[in-house]
Amino acid sequence: MIILSIETSCDDTGISLVEKRKGVLKALASTVSSQDEIHKKWGGVYPSDAKREHQKNIIPSLRKTLQSAGFLSKGSVPMPKQIPEILSRETILLREVKKFFAKYHVSKKIDAVAVTIGPGLEPCLWVGVNFARALSLYLNTPIIPVNHIKAHILFFLFEKKKIDLPAIALIASGGHTELVLMKSFSSYKLIGKTRDDAAGECFDKTARVLGLGYPGGPAISSRAGRFNPQKSKFEIKLPRPMKHAKNYDFSFSGLKTAVLYDFLSRNKKTKNSAEYISQMAYEVEEAVTDILVFKLKKATEEKGAKTLILGGGVTANKTLQEKIRRMKKDFPEIDFFVPSAGHATDNAEIIGAAASVDKTRKKHHEVRANANLKIYGSINTDD
Ligand code: KG4
Ligand code: ZN
Repeated sequence: MIILSIETSCDDTGISLVEKRKGVLKALASTVSSQDEIHKKWGGVYPSDAKREHQKNIIPSLRKTLQSAGFLSKGSVPMPKQIPEILSRETILLREVKKFFAKYHVSKKIDAVAVTIGPGLEPCLWVGVNFARALSLYLNTPIIPVNHIKAHILFFLFEKKKIDLPAIALIASGGHTELVLMKSFSSYKLIGKTRDDAAGECFDKTARVLGLGYPGGPAISSRAGRFNPQKSKFEIKLPRPMKHAKNYDFSFSGLKTAVLYDFLSRNKKTKNSAEYISQMAYEVEEAVTDILVFKLKKATEEKGAKTLILGGGVTANKTLQEKIRRMKKDFPEIDFFVPSAGHATDNAEIIGAAASVDKTRKKHHEVRANANLKIYGSINTDD
């Protein structure tokens, strides 16, 4: 089975072709276009800007992906009449689609189109969903709607077909901080989530306070790396919000406020100094990763997890990875899946992975975006 997958839930435009043959999943080709340059100005993602960029990026990504997998040929085949109607709210994309299909056609069989339908930013999700609808008509294939969080969990299918269950997954990104209990391929339960900011958002916001760039995670991390805890110069004590609450929920907005207050209480010379900024970056990184790992351990022990899965952009954090490595030593019998950078951040390969174990098949008019989609669904891995 060959799946063309689409991801546009936040600010990355992803297109992949994945193949599942004899139970083995592999990516044939993939493209991800980041919008970081656009969102840098504001220090965060504005949905209307992101929607525009998805519309601009999606066809070049499709072309690259199809071309590198050898699925693209010159010469046009007629475009279904309904496409202008389907893309009536994505006018930039419609123009691109017309230009593209006037020049090229898909020369090999694709069995399904998979697309993220939620959770995510509504206008962004609709770009992917409407594009999937148009493509499904053009390619005459069904659509497999995909839950984005499930895709962050199921990336492991590229590495292993079956895992020991139950599994606990921690998804930490700019938009999510969620702990999911996976009891089977058809049973997912959200056991904890952030009550305010996501972990990545906390990095992004504190980086902004400190005058570092966007995205904040890598910026905080590189400054933190310059700090030597033996040479600590400042008295900084950041809180660990909700760490000891009895549930698995998170809260990061108080942490950002604590950073802001500390920053504002310093004199100009201090707050502009490289030493203060790198010590504060270190403290932020310590606090966020401390809370994440603490709750992950708590869930692992209390739910009797046999497998741990990490996902989302924050899992690229070196301190978090180091703490996870130490955690592995305490839980030697547990299998850990930590994604490579390409599978941690938003991309369409993981959407293809989730679709590859999903029996759902929808017609173009049956698929809708749902910004608040909960984790649900029936999935099986028998084939
Ligand atoms: O998964 P992702 O690419 O996009 C979504 O938010 O869905 O995650 C991006 C988030 C940003 O908030 C970014 O600051 C954070 O992940 N991030 C990091 C690191 N790299 C990216 N946070 C901490 N340390 C990093 N090295
Ligand atoms: Zn994501």
